[in-house]
Amino acid sequence: MAKILIVDDQDMMRDSLAATLVREGHEVVAAYDGQIALQRLGEKKFDLMLTDLRMPKMTGLELLTEAKKIRPDMPVVLMTAFATVQTAVEAMKQGAYDYIQKPFDGEELKLLIERTLEHARLRVENQTLRGVVESMNAPRPLVGDGAVMMQVKRRIELVGKSNATVLIRGPSGTGKEVASRAIHIASERRDRPFLAVNCAALSESLLESELFGHEKGAFTGADRVRRGRFELADGGTLLLDEISEIAPGLQAKLLRVLQENAFERVGSSVTQQVDVRVIATSNRDLEQAVHEGKFREDLFYRLNVVPIELPALRDRAEDIPDLVRHFLSNIARRDRAPFRHIEPEAVRVLQKYHWPGNVRELQNLIERAVILETDPGVIRAETIAPWLKMPGEARGGSGMEQLAGKPLEEVEKHVILSTLERFKGHRVKTAGALGIGVRTLGMKIKKWKEVGEFAET
Ligand SMILES: Nc1ncnc2c1ncn2[C@@H]1O[C@H](COP(=O)(O)OP(=O)(O)OP(=O)(O)O)[C@@H](O)[C@H]1O
Ligand SMILES: [Mg+2]
Repeated sequence: MAKILIVDDQDMMRDSLAATLVREGHEVVAAYDGQIALQRLGEKKFDLMLTDLRMPKMTGLELLTEAKKIRPDMPVVLMTAFATVQTAVEAMKQGAYDYIQKPFDGEELKLLIERTLEHARLRVENQTLRGVVESMNAPRPLVGDGAVMMQVKRRIELVGKSNATVLIRGPSGTGKEVASRAIHIASERRDRPFLAVNCAALSESLLESELFGHEKGAFTGADRVRRGRFELADGGTLLLDEISEIAPGLQAKLLRVLQENAFERVGSSVTQQVDVRVIATSNRDLEQAVHEGKFREDLFYRLNVVPIELPALRDRAEDIPDLVRHFLSNIARRDRAPFRHIEPEAVRVLQKYHWPGNVRELQNLIERAVILETDPGVIRAETIAPWLKMPGEARGGSGMEQLAGKPLEEVEKHVILSTLERFKGHRVKTAGALGIGVRTLGMKIKKWKEVGEFAET
């Protein structure tokens, strides 16, 4: 359903058109001349304006020019008799989206309107996407100057210059995504999109249409054409996260795009050509999956043109001081708060820990330390140490036991702060998860702030 403004000086024409569109389920406003139309345009937003060309007072062309000043993004379709087709062509040069020749039937009009609205929708989608891409392309440095990371960085610079497919491997949280963005930034594609798809998160059929798109009616629920990630990433980079999880049928299709740069949308026989650099990640043993027949060998070799291995954080403890400083300065910038220092002993404690969650775990821990450290000057080892579960220690449960026997108020504060932390400070999500109102949450935080037990911007 769309909001449509119809402008025509002939009552019969206008009324029957309005009736047709209302029957189609649209919301229609009718105006009998250009001046009234402009007035309506100023009052509310329309998705589409359908205007006659020849009208008294103001012609359709003049109306088009004025309407573009008020609603530059609204598509305008002109209705014209045969004699004025030439003018309609002129109008399209001036920004009209399309024209329809009188007399026309309902079906013709319906198709035109659908096409126009779909085009406008795609334009908005593109704009949003471009915004997302820009924010995603914001530099996120790969921190760490230890020998291993230096080697990784050199490889990224080299591979950036090529179009080769890259396979990045390493345990969870070691920075595979950061590294793939770094490759994109190091390449000539840096001004083009960088998109990511998590292959483990979707079922086979959903993943297929996510990657390759689908035609309208390709399957139940496919009520409009959808462009897939390969199309959207054209000229740029596509990150396929957790590639080992991709089903056999899709492995074949993926191999084809990698080899021929060609694919079809689901439900279409039209072959599309794209130019996309693919980066794949995996934290599983792919050779083993190949050996077990779960992952195609030819695809494995095609992906593994340039391998990059990210080591576990415990194997590069020398990078920890830099990482800690990096996260602290990120937090300070984000919260517009002074930089929190950390005492050398605390860093040594961190360097001894085994980091099962790797860099992600370190990042979360620093975030927690900034929130919970009561010493305003510096983050202390004694604050951090109790949070680090040494190997062999019971997982889970222990956190709760630590709270047993504590005043309820303190327990509540602990739960609220760790939930806030989990949702990156997002109050609406935090309140939702805790089953309390956002205002209640806000009041509690305000109270802690007043007594200096909580720092936030
Ligand atoms: N070398 C690094 N420099 C700065 N930040 C890093 C680095 N490595 C990881 N991070 C940060 O740690 C977090 C996890 O990194 P990332 O998402 O790249 O890991 P991953 O290997 O893709 O993990 P997963 O296997 O779980 O998807 C991110 O917030 C990222 O910004
Ligand atoms: Mg990842």
